[in-house]
Amino acid sequence: MSRPKLVVTRRWPKEVEEQLCDSYDTELNESDTPMSAAQLRDALGRADALLPTVSDRIDGEVLSADPLNAKLIASYGVGFNHIDIPSARERGLTVTNTPGVLTDCTADLALTLMLMAARRAGEGEQHLRAGAWTGWRPTHMMGTKVTGKTCGIIGMGRIGKAVARRVHHGFAMKVLCYNRSPVDGDFLQEVGAEQCSSMDEVFARSDFLSLHCPATPETRHLVNAERLALMPSNAILINTARGDVVDEQALAGALKDRRIAAAGLDVFEAEPLVTPDLLELDNAVLLPHLGSATTETRVAMGERVLRNVRQFFSGETPTDRVA
Ligand code: DGY
Repeated sequence: MSRPKLVVTRRWPKEVEEQLCDSYDTELNESDTPMSAAQLRDALGRADALLPTVSDRIDGEVLSADPLNAKLIASYGVGFNHIDIPSARERGLTVTNTPGVLTDCTADLALTLMLMAARRAGEGEQHLRAGAWTGWRPTHMMGTKVTGKTCGIIGMGRIGKAVARRVHHGFAMKVLCYNRSPVDGDFLQEVGAEQCSSMDEVFARSDFLSLHCPATPETRHLVNAERLALMPSNAILINTARGDVVDEQALAGALKDRRIAAAGLDVFEAEPLVTPDLLELDNAVLLPHLGSATTETRVAMGERVLRNVRQFFSGETPTDRVA
């Protein structure tokens, strides 16, 4: 029997690409150039499974492929807002993601951004490299103390919980959270967290506010001018979730006028483009979507896709099926 044909849209860590090639008729993207909508559609027409990632837009147009040969979209990444799930369902496609394996690294990066923004680490590094440092002095580059502050968390899923553990156990922070459903009481107790019934209350009471909700039509621009106005002037906003959750232009305005103190962003509304006003601000720490970018996690994400593909082609329901 011939081996299932897979099309992988971007480069993956070598060890997982090798496993894919050992087990399947695999087409790799050696040049790592993003595939166009036409190329993605074509891949759906000739492969048995498409293995895209979070920067590939698998929209209704791509999913209108005719003929459609693929039965599986095994995405590399936990977020699946880049895939038009209703259209995928309509075309009879199974869709999987890679949850769990990137929780720790994404939470670590949220903490990196908190520390960088509060302690002006990005700004300090640029200052030193530019040769502007004239030596230690008592008033030089004073930032904000992190330990003991209040951290608000929007979305208490896996990553939100991992951030709560880090800020509570590592930085003795008071944790506030907002989540659509009730958060398990034992967990709230473990991290001394208070679940608020209103999101606005979390915005109003937090020194650090970290976003961990998925990108859905309901969460689009959840951080807007009105909510930014609720935040204390010393507040620091952290986004490692999805760019769509924040109105970037409104945020740039709030940062520019120092209506909030700082922001640490790893994700953007129109990646890889960043709202130009943000690039001008020294109180914005900006990273290029690095949340899961460790070798261990990127290999684990690939292994997770492999498991979903194996399960699918041996007739089982993949563990990480989202459609
Ligand atoms: C994801 O997996 O959704 C991240 O944003 C990329 O690691």
